[in-house]
Amino acid sequence: MKLRKIVLFASAMLLSTSAFAWPWSTDMMNQPSIKPQEGAPALFAKRSIPIQGIPTKVANREEAKSLQNPIPVSAASIKKGRYLFKVYCAACHGLTGRADSPISPKLGAIDLTTEYVQDSLSEGWIYGTITFGSVIMPAYGKPAEGGGSNDLSVPERWHVVNYIRNQLVKDAAGSATASAE
Ligand code: HEC
Repeated sequence: MKLRKIVLFASAMLLSTSAFAWPWSTDMMNQPSIKPQEGAPALFAKRSIPIQGIPTKVANREEAKSLQNPIPVSAASIKKGRYLFKVYCAACHGLTGRADSPISPKLGAIDLTTEYVQDSLSEGWIYGTITFGSVIMPAYGKPAEGGGSNDLSVPERWHVVNYIRNQLVKDAAGSATASAE
């Protein structure tokens, strides 16, 4: 009998058209949060998501091997590449690229002025190495695990490639002459 009453009451509630208008039915919705489509979309802070950091065309270094460098070699590109090289690569590969930083030998960071890097590796492979990292070398083209922002945008990575292949050896020779004088 008791159960029947409950069932009756419950179905009365469900069938009632006013059930959808009960005040508590919207309690959870009315929060101070911003609802979907509410107001103008907020702009993300600069580089807060790596929209340029994730490669769209290649999934790994092997696939990057035959990529064509889309950024022509220019004084401006080399300048950007040199700056980025000093910030991102010099710690391990040395300011001259000759693996002459104090930690180069500890990590086994290679000399980037050799024939191997200057002639044998394709530009796409160097780009892929920067993007995905290597054996020990970290990746610069995808967000670090657990956050972090060591991401270089696609153009930035090509600027570094331009610098390595067109100016690094000359800069290294210049610094050798400078220190010998
Ligand atoms: C944390 C240290 C570290 C940093 C920073 C680093 N590298 Fe490396 N890199 C290495 C080590 C160690 C190797 C050799 C072992 C390996 O392949 O991981 C290497 C190898 C390479 C190679 C050769 C890959 C191959 O196929 O043999 C290239 C090219 C290279 N690095 C370029 C760069 C550039 C460009 C940057 C900056 C964007 C950079 N590296 C930053 C440590 C580093």
